[in-house]
Amino acid sequence: MTPSLSPLDTCASTATLQSRVIAHCEADEGKAVERLCAILRIPSISTDPAYERDVRRAADWLAADLTTLGFTAEVCKTIGHPIVVAHHPGVGAAAKHAPRVLFYGHYDVQPADPLDLWTSPPFEPAIVNGPKGPRVVARGAVDDKGQVMSFLEALRGWHAIAGGPPVPVTVMLEGEEEAGSKSLEPFLHAAKDRLVGDVCIVSDTGMWDIDTPAITTRLRGLVYLECTIHGPSRDLHSGMYGGAVPNPIQVLADVVHSFHDADRRITVAGFYEGVEELSPQTRAQWESLGFSDAEFLGDIGLPCGFGEKGRSSLERTWSRPTLEVNGIFGGYTGKGAKTVIGAFATAKISCRLVGQQDPDRISAALKAHIIERLPAGCRAEFESHGANPAISVRESSPYLTLASKALEDVYGRKPLLIGTGGSIPAVGSIKQILGMDSLLIGFGLDDDCVHSPNEKFELRCFHNGTKCHAALLGELASLKQR
Ligand code: BES
Ligand code: MN
Ligand code: MN
Repeated sequence: MTPSLSPLDTCASTATLQSRVIAHCEADEGKAVERLCAILRIPSISTDPAYERDVRRAADWLAADLTTLGFTAEVCKTIGHPIVVAHHPGVGAAAKHAPRVLFYGHYDVQPADPLDLWTSPPFEPAIVNGPKGPRVVARGAVDDKGQVMSFLEALRGWHAIAGGPPVPVTVMLEGEEEAGSKSLEPFLHAAKDRLVGDVCIVSDTGMWDIDTPAITTRLRGLVYLECTIHGPSRDLHSGMYGGAVPNPIQVLADVVHSFHDADRRITVAGFYEGVEELSPQTRAQWESLGFSDAEFLGDIGLPCGFGEKGRSSLERTWSRPTLEVNGIFGGYTGKGAKTVIGAFATAKISCRLVGQQDPDRISAALKAHIIERLPAGCRAEFESHGANPAISVRESSPYLTLASKALEDVYGRKPLLIGTGGSIPAVGSIKQILGMDSLLIGFGLDDDCVHSPNEKFELRCFHNGTKCHAALLGELASLKQR
């Protein structure tokens, strides 16, 4: 862009560099979208073994891209999908003393089904004009490839203008987040020495609205249990046996029914242990957000909310635990009729956790609750798909203050501190194993269709996200940490 200045021009202050980096990113937006589309074309679905090679291909693509940004990048083997780790020592005088950044993101995506509801193929990114401007439609657009690329684009800006980021940066990109992050903890233990840092930046959450940035300060935890109830030793003719034997589907339905009482509170013994009531300050802050129930529900075609008695939608999603069935099957599910009593029935059950709820205790209590309700002749089999606690981020940290400034620089207004109902297991593991707090700075919107058909990312969010990350790296260089 400005070839007359050497990349390591020490005369330029970080602040001037920062504005030149942002200008560079703006000028490069067209190519940034092309790069985003390239990674979106790789169907890196982590949960389905059929896509293993594509997951690997996405990891290779990112490591190669990071190499072009001056990083030493490696695709690290794990017991599951690979993790990309890349490091840059940072350039300029401040880098020696500034906080070291660990950026965490995930390059795997959710399955794209149901395919027939997509307006364009999920792995052929389409740039479409929407009411808020152009958007990219593809699986992974916002969760999380688009947000990962917004950070990489910020790094690209710093690389072009200053020869690298103004602080040391380690990038760690996981390929199993959407499948429960099973390989992450063993990897963090093994690679601890390569993952040193002072603060972790995560870009995998949302904004308040397209003009109002947000920093997420709480994530719910998650216990995911798949439960199969087995009855008769084989499928039976429902005329010959029906009425005289337990039907696993009915047993499962009875169990599912028993999970909630008439006030929609969860009946599993000890479930609410560790759930905390909101402090008056948090309650007041949430009330000041001006959350609209009508908008939240109207957007998904619902006339009114549903859930635990006496709680608002915001509380129900940000500060209360849940127990939900995410999938249920058994018996005959094909076309037409088949008179059969299936030998088993399965439910995929997940609980969102808050406060100090203990994932292992919840999991054990849930199993016991189910087993107690089985009639003679039935047994339950369980498979765990992960268990991680809720997270809350300290609101009084110098990093949060700097992040707030970076967001305000770009958006012209202060970010709101928000909660979210979603979970990012890595944040807890990074705190526990690497001892680092995370800054959750996300650029998604509620209507992005995360995990649904026609997932999208507004290009305005993508580009502003890039600018925010570029500004944040610059701001961090002003902190003397070491
Ligand atoms: N990025 C999401 C988490 C999220 C969703 C944060 C919405 C904020 C708003 C993440 O990729 C995700 O989907 N997590 C899973 C975790 C699970 C698969 C272990 C979730 O929350 O269901
Ligand atoms: Mn995500
Ligand atoms: Mn997700």
